[in-house]
Amino acid sequence: MTDAEWVWSDDGVNFHTRKWVRPEDLNANGSLFGGSLLRWIDEEAAIYAIIQLGNYRVVTKLISEINFEASALQGDLIEMGLRATHFGRTSLTMRAVVRNMITRQRILTIERIVFVNLDADGVPAPHGYRDITYDRDRMPHEHPDTSSIRLPGDH
Ligand SMILES: CC(C)(COP(=O)(O)OP(=O)(O)OC[C@H]1O[C@@H](n2cnc3c(N)ncnc32)[C@H](O)[C@@H]1OP(=O)(O)O)[C@@H](O)C(=O)NCCC(=O)NCCS
Repeated sequence: MTDAEWVWSDDGVNFHTRKWVRPEDLNANGSLFGGSLLRWIDEEAAIYAIIQLGNYRVVTKLISEINFEASALQGDLIEMGLRATHFGRTSLTMRAVVRNMITRQRILTIERIVFVNLDADGVPAPHGYRDITYDRDRMPHEHPDTSSIRLPGDH
C-alpha cells in the first residue's frame, strides 16, 4: 500500500485527532493502556455527536464489541477516526477506527458507538438530522450551561 492509499483507507473514516502515547497512558506491560484509549474515543465521539446533532446534551448509550488488533508503545503517534453510520430519531451511531501512525497497524475498530440526543430534562429528544455535515453549520453558539443539565429522575 502506498503512503497516500494508507492515509485515505478505512472507508470514509476521517482521522481528526492524533495522540502522542505518554508514560501515563501505559499498562503494566509497557504498551498503551486500553482504558486511556477508550477515554479518548468516548470524548472524540461526544465531540463528533455534538457537531453532528448541534446539541451539547448527548450521552453515550452503547459501545459495541471492541477488538484490540494491535497496540502502541511510548512515543508512538496514534490517530482516531469516526464516521456516522446511522442517524436514528434520537440517536446517532458511529464507527470508530484507531491506527498507529508509526507501525501503520490498526489498533482497534468499534463497529457501533451509539449516542443519544437529550432535552433539558435528560429525556431522549428527536434531533431532526438524517445525514453527515462536513461544515460547522450545526455547532451550538453559546457556552454549555452545564449547571442546568439534569438526569432522568433528578428533579
Ligand atoms: C440515554 C438514555 C436517556 C436513553 O434512555 P432509553 O430509555 O433507552 O431511551 P429510548 O428507549 O427512548 O431510546 C433512545 C434511543 O437510544 C436507542 N437505544 C436504546 N437502547 C439501545 C441499545 N441498547 N443499543 C442501541 N441503541 C439503543 C434507541 O433506539 C433510541 O434511538 P432512536 O430514537 O434513534 O431510535 C438512558 O439510557 C440513560 O440516561 N443512560 C445513561 C447515559 C449516560 O449517562 N451515559 C454516559 C456514561 S455513564
